[in-house]
Amino acid sequence: MLRLNFEQEGKKVTSKLDELEQRIIADMRKVYSQKAIDHAMNPQNVGRIKDTDGYARVTGPCGDTMEISLRVRKRKVLDAKFWTDGCGSSIACGSVATGLIKGKSVAGAQKVDSESILNALDGLPESNVHCAVLASDTLRAAIKNYLASIRAKVK
Ligand code: FES
Repeated sequence: MLRLNFEQEGKKVTSKLDELEQRIIADMRKVYSQKAIDHAMNPQNVGRIKDTDGYARVTGPCGDTMEISLRVRKRKVLDAKFWTDGCGSSIACGSVATGLIKGKSVAGAQKVDSESILNALDGLPESNVHCAVLASDTLRAAIKNYLASIRAKVK
């Protein structure tokens, strides 16, 4: 009898949590594009590349930090990973920023800016545009770090 009550209560809690999750997602859809929600909830390229060829860690004016690490071979970005302690938008921006440069030449990756990131997410609310700037600043710094290491090897 007691066990039955636990099971019934457990089902009620699960059902309430499902309902709450659906309401939260419905509220997010009023503000964010489906792409932004998808990348925030299921980000791609999360992590750090060991023995990276280019790396940067940047803290934005909001106080959130992003890291990007690159694997580059023959001036082509083979892999890119990001990490952030920031908001859902910064997670979405890190996800698309790293996705946009994978497979590109270093010169092509340098052209990825905050506009490219915003376009890939079908936009962000004005209050979250700085999250795309944080991702593009981190990306540029990681590429700069890679180029500096190449120059140092040539000397
Ligand atoms: S609020 Fe700081 S990066 Fe989004």
